[in-house]
Amino acid sequence: MLTIRNLKKSVGGRVLFEEASMQINYGERVALVGPNGAGKSTLFSIILRSNEPDSGSVERDEWTMVGFLPQEAEAVGSETVLQVATGQAGMLDTLEATLRRLEEAGTVDVPEYFEAQAKYDALSNPQTEAKAKKMLRGLGYRESDFDRPAKEMSGGWIMRAHLARLLVMEPDLLMLDEPTNHLDLMSLLWLQNYLKNYSGALLMISHDRQFMDELVQTVYEIDERRLISYTGNYSDYLRQREENYERQLSAYKNQQKEIEQLQAFADKFRSVASKAAQAQSKIKQIERMEKIDKPKPPRKPFRFQIPEPPRGGQRSIELEGIEMAYGKNVVYRNLSLTIERGERTVLVGPNGAGKSTLLKILAGEVEYQKGTRKLGHAAKIGYFSQHRAATLNPNNTVVAEVMDANPNLREDEARGILGSFMFRKEEVFKYTRVLSGGEKSRLNLVKFLVDPPNILLMDEPTTHLDILTVESLILALEKYAGTLVFISHDVHFIRKLATDVLHVNDGQVTRYHGDYDYFIEKSGAGDERAALTAG
Ligand SMILES: Nc1ncnc2c1ncn2[C@@H]1O[C@H](COP(=O)(O)OP(=O)(O)OP(=O)(O)O)[C@@H](O)[C@H]1O
Ligand SMILES: [Mg+2]
Repeated sequence: MLTIRNLKKSVGGRVLFEEASMQINYGERVALVGPNGAGKSTLFSIILRSNEPDSGSVERDEWTMVGFLPQEAEAVGSETVLQVATGQAGMLDTLEATLRRLEEAGTVDVPEYFEAQAKYDALSNPQTEAKAKKMLRGLGYRESDFDRPAKEMSGGWIMRAHLARLLVMEPDLLMLDEPTNHLDLMSLLWLQNYLKNYSGALLMISHDRQFMDELVQTVYEIDERRLISYTGNYSDYLRQREENYERQLSAYKNQQKEIEQLQAFADKFRSVASKAAQAQSKIKQIERMEKIDKPKPPRKPFRFQIPEPPRGGQRSIELEGIEMAYGKNVVYRNLSLTIERGERTVLVGPNGAGKSTLLKILAGEVEYQKGTRKLGHAAKIGYFSQHRAATLNPNNTVVAEVMDANPNLREDEARGILGSFMFRKEEVFKYTRVLSGGEKSRLNLVKFLVDPPNILLMDEPTTHLDILTVESLILALEKYAGTLVFISHDVHFIRKLATDVLHVNDGQVTRYHGDYDYFIEKSGAGDERAALTAG
């Protein structure tokens, strides 16, 4: 249904990929993977014709309806959540206008018309509203939020409403750019299950191993400007890549050994008259060999160290008798809690239990109605919110953004740190507004490093980060001397880091003084993923 041939694309003088080809058949499930900034989202925009390749072609069957979920949520106007999910606001009108325009021009026999018609039909179907509600519920919405203006919701929730609309339309090809980034575990599992039974084709960008393992049968990787395809799910892809490397490496080594032997013979007998001809033929043999390149070893996580922050008091943060409500919705009543220096605490609990709110209370980012929050001696807080793009100034270059975070820094120092975060050479002069999702997250990490807090509060720090960068972050946080409180649904990340677990449910906070496995055992919460959202 979709064929891509020989695409080449460069941005800002850098080639993202070339000779990229791909084919997707009806009903096929495909993942597109690769490091942050490799060009995955850019490839999507070319397939969607919102961006032009330098060369190559994209062909799509005329009859296919394509639905797309962008990496960052599209802005909304005054429509309600349900209106976004049913396409009533804006979308239907736009589609109708497109249809009228093409009809008036007498060009109704074109793919654009078929697609607009199919989308229009899908959204004006009498079943649409019921279907939209079902999707919204699955994605974690409460009934009472259906009629709220979407713009009151956070970016992640707006994205869910857009996703609900796509699922309602049931496109033949569903293109999702990091769909799990803004989902909690319950809705992630719901989506996974829904997509398993989805009849159309799927093309998704993701850094979530388990999600891809459950869903895809083909993996394309952007690696060193090439698009390489692997058959199987994500684990199969990892295995094949490893095997390819081992195979190439041993082929390379064998050939090197052979060359050495031939060369040694030639060197030894070159000046022996009776054997000179033989020696010469060995040299020829070496020259005639098709040389095998030494394969590049798999990339390793880059190592960075969080500079030692000023030492804080024994008690980092103390909450006492906190009452916190959003309007009538009481989240905490009489909450008391102490976070001690050097602990690495993960917050777990069901969807909507108030984990992000607790982190914001600790950070001093929300106003609560009652109680006190006491900071320890010399406390210096760094808060890494769930919505990080908004924390960057779009008109700053990458290096200026870092120097704003710590004005004592010289430019060469800032560039040095940025270099170890993969912002190389002139890349530090990019405007922050053109950065990819993962690059934005990385830049936010750099901003912490240049002015390290001794209390670090992080809400889903691994979203948008590629798999190796997550490893790098784990390595750095393991050595971090300050206090860490974080929210995550990445079991691997939690296992590596948590020394304490706080279970949040129904306004109650229970402490488990031990690592994640201790929590699973003590709480009887079931398997490692279920434990994250257990009530
Ligand atoms: N106008 C521009 N000028 C310079 N560089 C740009 C511009 N637009 C995009 N880029 C760069 O192109 C690269 C590819 O971006 P893209 O969003 O496709 O990456 P991605 O693979 O989706 O990454 P991520 O996993 O972080 O989402 C990034 O390095 C980005 O900074
Ligand atoms: Mg992207």
